[in-house]
Amino acid sequence: MLRDLFCVANFKMNKNRYETISYLKKLSILNKIKSKTNLIVCPPYTSLTESIKNISLGVQNINSNTNGAYTGEISAEMVCDFDVQYVILGHSERREFFNENDNEINKKIKIALKYNLKPILCVGENLNQRKNNQVLKILEQQLSISLDNIDIKSNIVIAYEPVWAIGTGETASTDLITETHNMIRKILNDIGFDGEKISILYGGSVNRNNAKDLIALKDVDGFLIGGASLDVNHFYDIFKYIEESV
Ligand code: PGA
Repeated sequence: MLRDLFCVANFKMNKNRYETISYLKKLSILNKIKSKTNLIVCPPYTSLTESIKNISLGVQNINSNTNGAYTGEISAEMVCDFDVQYVILGHSERREFFNENDNEINKKIKIALKYNLKPILCVGENLNQRKNNQVLKILEQQLSISLDNIDIKSNIVIAYEPVWAIGTGETASTDLITETHNMIRKILNDIGFDGEKISILYGGSVNRNNAKDLIALKDVDGFLIGGASLDVNHFYDIFKYIEESV
């Protein structure tokens, strides 16, 4: 296996602490053995817990500063109070609703790496950009700015999430995913990384009905899952498809 595999749940702003803890307990019972696939749950900050066997924890964002007068924000150091190993950065909802840009995402990646958090960097075009043939340009911009001055040996995971496929039920086609993941690998090579070694996840309306076909694509190294991750049995079914694909 050339690259690591991932199955990542992004709860977004869903589930209270009690609900998350019972979810994690159930997931750890379902997944008794140490899997080949990295199984990661990213709940809201208020649901972070101590580590749970065979499951890694991630968060959905961190602030780009070390500390200071940033009311309402959470730093990388603070999430390290818990056994957090991953951080989703540059999610399209953060770009859209919180005006995050690639320069800020670059700062966040740097601070995440400083605290040994592995960034899951989200990139992807919106519908207009796809219709206007701007996908390559957008991905080049997102990747080159977000990864500017980042050590090429850093442990980074990319999630390709076309904005028009997120939460819409409209999954990208297998051809489109293959083409775009290859495009991303080529851009990574062009900016000095080894594209063949970096895991690229797909995200956007992944569910138990489409996961098997999508993970069969050789350029897809796992999934970032929103809606379908909220039900633990549904999420576990998707995870099993990834495990079985090895
Ligand atoms: P979705 O969300 O699976 O609900 O489309 C994916 C994401 O936002 O990461």
